[in-house]
Amino acid sequence: MKFFDAKKFDFDNINGISKCQLDQHYTLYTRYVDAMNKVSIEMNDNNLYKNCNPNFSNLRNTQIALTYNLDSIKLHELYFENMTGLNNDINGKIQMVINNTFGSYENFIDKFKCIGLSMRGWVILCYDYFSNDYYIYGQDSHNTEISMNTYPLIVMDVYEHAYMIDFGIDKAKYIDAFFKNLDFKVINNRFNV
Ligand SMILES: [Fe+2]
Repeated sequence: MKFFDAKKFDFDNINGISKCQLDQHYTLYTRYVDAMNKVSIEMNDNNLYKNCNPNFSNLRNTQIALTYNLDSIKLHELYFENMTGLNNDINGKIQMVINNTFGSYENFIDKFKCIGLSMRGWVILCYDYFSNDYYIYGQDSHNTEISMNTYPLIVMDVYEHAYMIDFGIDKAKYIDAFFKNLDFKVINNRFNV
């Protein structure tokens, strides 16, 4: 299994979320990268597969840590990438998809925000290859409550670590700030895969 390096992100154009908040969040992300690299070391060791036990085993712990840390890396990178503070006017394919699926951007924001206030980890607008449809998923953890064979388009972190420094327990205010920093150029490029 491969090893990962933490990516760099430019927070200079983000408004309404402080550098301190973003820097703390970024540091947390790098710790998931470190943890995932430890998982990779474990998975590359054939001895890991000599003790197979559903009640207690290093293999079981590693399997659980694999999706937890790998999904955390993916989600944090998608989140930081789509929250640049630039290109905030909705346009292009994402506008068409949102209007067709949710009626209007305002209606989409209302639903996305309500799901964010209802969940403890992530909110993600995804394209589902199975049904050829779009869903907003809410996750309580990095590796739960999401369907297979789906592609992420808009990703928002709603863990308390994403907003508590700036907003205390006012998660709604944080979500409003997140939407004002969404980069629709980045999001539209996600259709080109
Ligand atoms: Fe986070």
